[in-house]
Amino acid sequence: MSHNNVYLLNKNEVIDRVFAHIDNGTTDLGTSQWHEPVDNYTNESRYEKEIALLRQRPVVFCPSAAIPDAGSFISRTAAGTPLLVVRDNDLKVRAFINACRHRGMKVASGQGCKRTFSCPYHGWTYNLDGSLRGVPGEEAFPDLEKETAGLKELFAIERGGLVYVQQEGTPRLETLDTALNFFEPSQPLIHQSDTLDEANWKLLTETLLEGYHIKSLHRESFYPFGLDNVNVVESFGQNSRVVYPFKRIEKLRAVSPDDREIEGFATLVYHLFPNVSVSVLSKHTSVTVIEPLSPSRTQMFSYYIKHSAKNGVEISVEEAMRDVDFVNQSGQEEDRAAARDIQETVTTSANSHLTFGYYEKAIVSFHQQLQSEFGVA
Ligand code: FES
Ligand SMILES: [Fe+2]
Repeated sequence: MSHNNVYLLNKNEVIDRVFAHIDNGTTDLGTSQWHEPVDNYTNESRYEKEIALLRQRPVVFCPSAAIPDAGSFISRTAAGTPLLVVRDNDLKVRAFINACRHRGMKVASGQGCKRTFSCPYHGWTYNLDGSLRGVPGEEAFPDLEKETAGLKELFAIERGGLVYVQQEGTPRLETLDTALNFFEPSQPLIHQSDTLDEANWKLLTETLLEGYHIKSLHRESFYPFGLDNVNVVESFGQNSRVVYPFKRIEKLRAVSPDDREIEGFATLVYHLFPNVSVSVLSKHTSVTVIEPLSPSRTQMFSYYIKHSAKNGVEISVEEAMRDVDFVNQSGQEEDRAAARDIQETVTTSANSHLTFGYYEKAIVSFHQQLQSEFGVA
């Protein structure tokens, strides 16, 4: 992975820091606590500000590998807007509001690969570049200017194997200065899944960003394999990376630095501010978009991508899928259940704030970034 303008520890620096933490009984620490008002997880006007933020900057929509060919498309709602994201004939990715210019029907549903999009209501058709191609009974629309009646196009760009869409405003390209190259074009998508939870999107995001809960919440699932509260936590731009070592990382003490690989010995979780995570595992990397549907309802879309050959050895889809299944059984349900439970208590008088300590450094940084975007607490 190349790191562009980003300073992150390299794999040996990460591994050595993990060993130092194990030897000293320490972990990476933040320098400040954070108190987040519980209201920010339930309040409608706060939620609207967050949706505006998600519309007014480039946000990851999916990995490039999820729409590999000309005509490949995914339609789904992002930050409250039904989107249609498609790869055009020139292989450029384009994003549109998924709304017919006749009477607003969604022209596409689900995902797949098409040459044109035909609105299911009355059959107006659109090209992959969004232009209006055909109108049945066109003589009934004497005022129609077909050249200006294409699908409403939004800003879309690919960086490092991810597709970003900005729905409103001038593209905030500076937020992509810290975009990493996560994928090579040859790496295929091998699986997709989505989940729906009655929980605020930030509660679900927070579960990904600290290792202080491994032993307690994941006692039977992840803790048998993973170290509790031993993490390397870094920021890059508005984003973070949290490294979760497996117990088997001990084996690397006997391996010379030149021969060490971190994949398989630790999970690297990148939080791409505000609402996307990229988790690098042993044989695959998953991209999860944490999509707010309401203050208390969130859908998560996950895309799983196979790693390239290691030392000339190809990874099979079956092997990579076993890796996917392992992760899905190693605590994600517990994290989601925790977020749903907390959603039920943030509406009570128990806490005026949720408290984050030095072990929850990446979450503190997440809330600091949100606060600086909104300019208020
Ligand atoms: S709404 Fe699409 S063709 Fe009528
Ligand atoms: Fe967890």
